[in-house]
Amino acid sequence: MFKRLRRTRQNPIIRQMVAETQLSKDMFIYPYFVTKGSGIERPIAAMPGISHFSPDTLCRDVEACLRLGLNKFLLFGVDEPKSADAHSAHDPRGAVPTALRRLKAEFGSDAYLITDVCVCAYTDHGHCGVLAGNTVLNDPSIALLAQMALTHAQAGADMVAPSDMMDGRVAAIRQTLDQNSLEHTAIMSYCIKYASSYYGPFREAAGSAPKQGDRRAYQMDYRNSNEALREAEADTDEGADVLMVKPALAYLDIIRRLKDHSLLPVACYNVSGEYSMLKCAAQQGLIDEAAMVMENMYAFARAGADIIITYHAKELLQKVGCKSSKHKKELNKLRKKWVFSLLLINFAARNNFYGCKTRFCALDSFL
Ligand code: PBG
Ligand code: ZN
Repeated sequence: MFKRLRRTRQNPIIRQMVAETQLSKDMFIYPYFVTKGSGIERPIAAMPGISHFSPDTLCRDVEACLRLGLNKFLLFGVDEPKSADAHSAHDPRGAVPTALRRLKAEFGSDAYLITDVCVCAYTDHGHCGVLAGNTVLNDPSIALLAQMALTHAQAGADMVAPSDMMDGRVAAIRQTLDQNSLEHTAIMSYCIKYASSYYGPFREAAGSAPKQGDRRAYQMDYRNSNEALREAEADTDEGADVLMVKPALAYLDIIRRLKDHSLLPVACYNVSGEYSMLKCAAQQGLIDEAAMVMENMYAFARAGADIIITYHAKELLQKVGCKSSKHKKELNKLRKKWVFSLLLINFAARNNFYGCKTRFCALDSFL
């Protein structure tokens, strides 16, 4: 006697019925790099398919995303003046606050706006806080981060996402926001952020690589997993609304442990190195890009991620969008053909729809 596990794999309908993991477009957050100026859409060499946008071109791209059903965006500022005290990080005339005001004016509450809060793209040394000698000072850095978060929230950010890994920054940001009547601005904490080589392409895109040394004195050691839960507990106590694990692909075990451990929503960040590896392999014709992206997204969801931050989001939904507009075209053709019989139209349309649905079953949950 043996078990026949293949029974529930026989055709798309039964596979769909027993599928344990669902994805939805509501889970995705799409990152953007924002620069000052106008008319700019500058491709990033290290991240094929991703560009720097000025606030005006950003609005057009966001509009295209909204049409695809993608409505959560994570903004990073680039090309800002760099200094030792990172004062441009909390300048209300900076690229991110300017973009926030424009996006809010144009899209209101249709677009949910999240900002990355960290100073590495604004310091002349490229570290994520205030530097003294070779040390990143903790407490002066959290004051600076709280100021930056406040500037973003005042410009219209719905949520701020500190990515610096200083101790106590969630509490400092929460307190500053509350003191300024911004108690509704949410905090997504990059609470489990590892010191990782997977951020390489991002640092090129954001111009945020440290000039000297690395980030191992503040980001986490990838050999540790209990410590990740201690980070999560600390940020939960300090008032985080969402907890994030970063990177994602090499850290699925951490996503799972966090999901089992915490009652807060869990996000994962499918980072630049993970994105560019896949893109480059696809450009070489070595892999089936769409299929592999889908496999990765399901892996994040299966590991326990409620929210997925990914540079693939727009293209992924464009592809799904193509499939569903193909449905619509076929349906319309049928409608014209059977214009005299309402019953027949509905029957044919339904059959056609189901036919399409089973053919593209991996994407069904988006439709
Ligand atoms: C800023 C920040 C980084 C990323 C997000 N916020 C880079 C870093 O910590 O060096 C990485 C994002 C990515 O690689 O896609 N601290
Ligand atoms: Zn940083």
